[in-house]
Amino acid sequence: MNKEIVVSGIRSTGFLHLGNYFGAIRNYVRMQEEYPCYFFVADYHSLTTHPDPALLKPNVYRVLAENIACGLDPEKVALYVQSDVPEIPELYLMLNMLAYKGELEKTASFKDKARTQPDNVNAGLLTYPTLMAADILIHKASYVPVGKDQEQHLEMARNFAQRFNHRYGETFPEPHPFNFGSDLVKIPSLDGTGKMSKSENENATLYLADTDEVIRKKVMKAKTDQGPTEVNSVMPDYIENIFLLMRLVSEADVVKKFEKDFSECTIRYGDLKKQLAEDMVRFISPIREKAESIRHDHVYLHKIMKAGQEKARESASKVLSEARRRMGINFYC
Ligand code: TRP
Repeated sequence: MNKEIVVSGIRSTGFLHLGNYFGAIRNYVRMQEEYPCYFFVADYHSLTTHPDPALLKPNVYRVLAENIACGLDPEKVALYVQSDVPEIPELYLMLNMLAYKGELEKTASFKDKARTQPDNVNAGLLTYPTLMAADILIHKASYVPVGKDQEQHLEMARNFAQRFNHRYGETFPEPHPFNFGSDLVKIPSLDGTGKMSKSENENATLYLADTDEVIRKKVMKAKTDQGPTEVNSVMPDYIENIFLLMRLVSEADVVKKFEKDFSECTIRYGDLKKQLAEDMVRFISPIREKAESIRHDHVYLHKIMKAGQEKARESASKVLSEARRRMGINFYC
């Protein structure tokens, strides 16, 4: 076991899809074997867009269940809910004194949201990066497994850590993005445009909660064409994408057979998609079923949330005391 600490926050909104699985979760599952890990559901962050209060609980339960179903082990990691750890908002308050209005306003995610929801440009949205920095620094984490879209937030966390250290003495390590392998696998969407994502085309994205029927339907609708007309043709992107998905879930010799059929111009895209659909169903359905049963097992979920909270607070309270002391907030000794 390495000694560097890993922290990552999981969004509490939206359903997990294949892109999340092969991008983020597979990395978490690998990291839990090699590093002390703190993974949490970022429910406070979700409040910036004023979600329906009645949806918070089902969303948090579902995200926890889906991550456990994918292989995250609550025995190995601290798996908790952000709002269960009061040390995080306390550190957030302290870090806000080191975060400047100008830099917060310049953050890409803030500018984006200010444009798309102009009637709700609240202070929580502006200080989203300080809350994220608090999530990370509260455990003195060195590594944060996140995708490209979070790099700017992470850079800000490093700046806040540096500023704190400079002003109050060496306290926090600088957190860096970390993922196994040099590049995260990008999972292409089924319509041949871009990658699978929560916000874009739902019909071209495979969710871990999709039923077998829905999976088959989506895969069979994937974009193809008349097929190659010359031997050894170059594959168009959208066909290449189908093969990429197949390499993730199908047997190697099955993939080889279809590759050979393609180069020999004997491929039938209907058969290719039927095969992919069945292999996808075989891959996704056990995850879906496991997540579904965990999601409804509230006794189990409460147990793991409490255990996660305990592990997280044990680490967080130590770091928070140190930060308070360094800032001069120690009036009783
Ligand atoms: N901002 C991250 C996202 O949108 C979620 C997140 C919140 C996070 N706090 C974090 C990620 C701390 C890593 C570390 O995906």
